[in-house]
Amino acid sequence: MMTFFKKFFGLTAGLLCMGLAKADEGMWLPQLLESLNEKRMQQLGMKISAKDIYDINKGSLKDAIVSFGGFCTGEVVSEKGLVLTNHHCGFESVQKHSTLDKNYIRDGFWARNGAEELPNAGLYVTFIVRIDDVSDQVLKGVSRQMKEPERQSIVDRNISALKKATKLGNSENVLISPFFEGNKYYLFVTETYTDVRLVGAPPSSIGNFGQDSDNWMWPRHTGDFSVFRIYAGKNNQPAEYSPDNVPYVPKKALTISLKGMQQDDFTMVFGFPGRTTEYLPSEAVRQIMEVNDPAKILVRDRTLSVMNRYMRANEELKIKYASKYAGIANAWKKWQGEILGLKRTDGLQKKLQYEAAFQKRLDASDLLKARYGLTLRDLNNAYKAIEPYALTRDYYLEITSKIELFSIIKKLRTLKAATGKPGYEKELAKQLESLTELYKNLSIDVDKDIFSALLPLYMEQQASYIAPVSRQQFEQYGNDYQRWAGALYAGNFFLDASKVLKGATSDPSEIFRYFETDPAAKLIIGMTDLYDMEIAPRLNELQARINGLQRDYMKAQTEVFTDRSFYPDANSTLRVGFGKVDDYKPADGIAYNYYTYLDGVMEKYKPGDYEFDVPEKLRQLYQKKEYGRYGVKNPAGGYRMPVCFIASNHTTGGNSGSPVLDANGQLVGINFDRVWEGTMSDISYDASICRNIMVDIRYVLFLIEKYAGAGHLIREMKLAHAIPGSRK
Ligand code: ARG
Ligand code: ASP
Repeated sequence: MMTFFKKFFGLTAGLLCMGLAKADEGMWLPQLLESLNEKRMQQLGMKISAKDIYDINKGSLKDAIVSFGGFCTGEVVSEKGLVLTNHHCGFESVQKHSTLDKNYIRDGFWARNGAEELPNAGLYVTFIVRIDDVSDQVLKGVSRQMKEPERQSIVDRNISALKKATKLGNSENVLISPFFEGNKYYLFVTETYTDVRLVGAPPSSIGNFGQDSDNWMWPRHTGDFSVFRIYAGKNNQPAEYSPDNVPYVPKKALTISLKGMQQDDFTMVFGFPGRTTEYLPSEAVRQIMEVNDPAKILVRDRTLSVMNRYMRANEELKIKYASKYAGIANAWKKWQGEILGLKRTDGLQKKLQYEAAFQKRLDASDLLKARYGLTLRDLNNAYKAIEPYALTRDYYLEITSKIELFSIIKKLRTLKAATGKPGYEKELAKQLESLTELYKNLSIDVDKDIFSALLPLYMEQQASYIAPVSRQQFEQYGNDYQRWAGALYAGNFFLDASKVLKGATSDPSEIFRYFETDPAAKLIIGMTDLYDMEIAPRLNELQARINGLQRDYMKAQTEVFTDRSFYPDANSTLRVGFGKVDDYKPADGIAYNYYTYLDGVMEKYKPGDYEFDVPEKLRQLYQKKEYGRYGVKNPAGGYRMPVCFIASNHTTGGNSGSPVLDANGQLVGINFDRVWEGTMSDISYDASICRNIMVDIRYVLFLIEKYAGAGHLIREMKLAHAIPGSRK
């Protein structure tokens, strides 16, 4: 009898024929590379084995990879726990240590020795010790006929029993996550270090060169890296921060290659991708393209244009809103690329064709037809049913989260809900900190204009999805959004930072009284109540139905296409993506090269510009071509400095900071972004235009050594090759 495992993942022989068509797609589980991917990886040029990547009996590459703070990836590159990640991943730490006198954001930061390395409360890195398949144990007692809540409670019970039964070392933790929509479960034994110190970061003009204009774009010229160090207590075990802690000695540190990459060279990205949805039915993809993404883009278009207008005119507001603007713009720009990429690659059409082929094969088997005959149809219908609610959710969440007057009131309501309960003091401290931060960067004028720019989008929805109080207020202020905003913001109590912060500490009940009298509070409370009472329950019900059907559809695909191997959607667990260095042609008449050089930084250089300024020292190094062993021969004569390159590795958010490894498993770059037309890889990967962007490790080392003068860090690292023809 075929084991469930084989049935589920397809046979290796089958994998090879289907595998060729979709060469580079997938975020694979490291412990399954040997059975599923090793042959294909070696065909593409990989010289090491799957065991070199993942082995639980001896140090393997996986022991050098960490989840960085749960939102990015990092890699260990020295025997003293030195970690590389992106500049945008370490940015929060850099920002927290920055002051007007010590402006590390603007000037960069480099510790000259261990004593100068800066601790970061709350920051942690997590290693993966081991991964086990626990599907049978977790799904014990579960059947297909069960309703979702019943199923979930059995699964939850099994998971907690399993966690208790797992033998763990002193400092180890255990995590169990669903894969393939809950058809499979894997257990992760992890080890988390909480003393992670900032060692160095280039100035933002290098680490975030090109900022929003270049974000999600190729050609790119960003030195997007920062350097941290893991500290451990005695016995090399995790320990809370203490000045007595010592640098962590890793099981494995990556070796760095200076050879550089050529077209078609094998590459592999090892990291913690956050979330993808590759197995959606066509109706869901259509909605993302035509309904959800456009709605979210529209809300952000309006928000960004208000912010932009103020930021251009006022230096102080530019600083206050820079981080908010970047966060809002990041997803806004990604969604536009996503729609564009889906259109250019006929993403919807491809889904429909896939579904037709699926249904045809399914219907040819009595057994499969009996089991899953209507699954796909029902799933598409369930998505149709959720559409209006999902759109309302998108508008509600996007709009209310952009208006900070609303955020203030929401935070204070959370505080009210916690009153008289255990843990109140902690909640108070948390809300005070976040309110203080919010007020610090708030401009009432900007917020008021965002209000009047966004409320029309809320009011123009179907009547039954609009809070009655909003209609009443709109009428009261003469159906005029500006007047409405003016009335709500003028002298508003919640916008008085000192009163609110003082009141929250001394007598919050005074503040809570305003919930009943303040029109802005009445408005956001009405909007929230309508959403919580009318929309959310319907959404949850439909979503539970979708989850069950999506799980069946996933399983059905693996049983129908037994000749294909499937990878699970990203869920912030450790994965390997592989592909090759590859140029691309995004549109007729446009062809992109796969490498960029420092010359491109200088071409983009705009003195004094907030996105494209270049530090004086970097310009000098460029002029003198002082690249040390990191420069490469320029065919046109002399030497040049490689900066970024692209490859066909399948990556997503969370893969930022991931090591890019070559055929020998040596570090050649740090992943940080994707090309604009290819961001639909979260929904539908297309090998012709999906490319990940990485910073060349030689640029990173050049900046550390020549720009920052931190050569002692390079001496900690293990460099594999000096390139023939390079200068010393
Ligand atoms: N687009 C990349 C990612 O999703 C990089 C973002 C950081 N850079 C920026 N300019 N906001 O995280
Ligand atoms: N920039 C993303 C990150 O921060 C990576 C990506 O979405 O390609 O993880």
